[in-house]
Amino acid sequence: MSLIKTIQFNKFGDERGSLVSLESFENIPFDIKRVYYLYGMSSHLPRGFHAHKELVQVAVCVKGSCSILMDDGKSKDSIKLDDPSLGLLIDAMQWHEMSGFSEDCVLMVLASENYNEADYIRNYKDYLCLME
Ligand code: TYD
Repeated sequence: MSLIKTIQFNKFGDERGSLVSLESFENIPFDIKRVYYLYGMSSHLPRGFHAHKELVQVAVCVKGSCSILMDDGKSKDSIKLDDPSLGLLIDAMQWHEMSGFSEDCVLMVLASENYNEADYIRNYKDYLCLME
């Protein structure tokens, strides 16, 4: 199965512009407990490099573009996000790395849980051991 799972959101658009609505258990497959966003990234400073034990997230590049690499310990795949109406599902135990940020990139992430550092796996070797 593909590591890249996307959600195409309905877009309400007319000459005034576009509107996308995100709702728990409607077009987002969990109860949204937290929203955070990243901006002002540097194209040569990738981020992420972790997996979460339980957290499920949906990432939406609401402005600009970036690449997200997904890794399950056996294979890797990456996607360029450049569409505010497309969400990328980041499942639990999914190693991910973000890179290639455009200067204007704003990456918004919806999360199924409050912030909890104990839920992070930040060491790739530990991650691989857990995935064996
Ligand atoms: P981190 O998740 O390591 O960022 P990235 O994976 O994008 O490289 O988070 C960076 C810092 O921000 C870290 O000190 C934890 C803090 N943080 C919060 O306090 N709350 C949050 O919701 C998130 C995502 C991070």
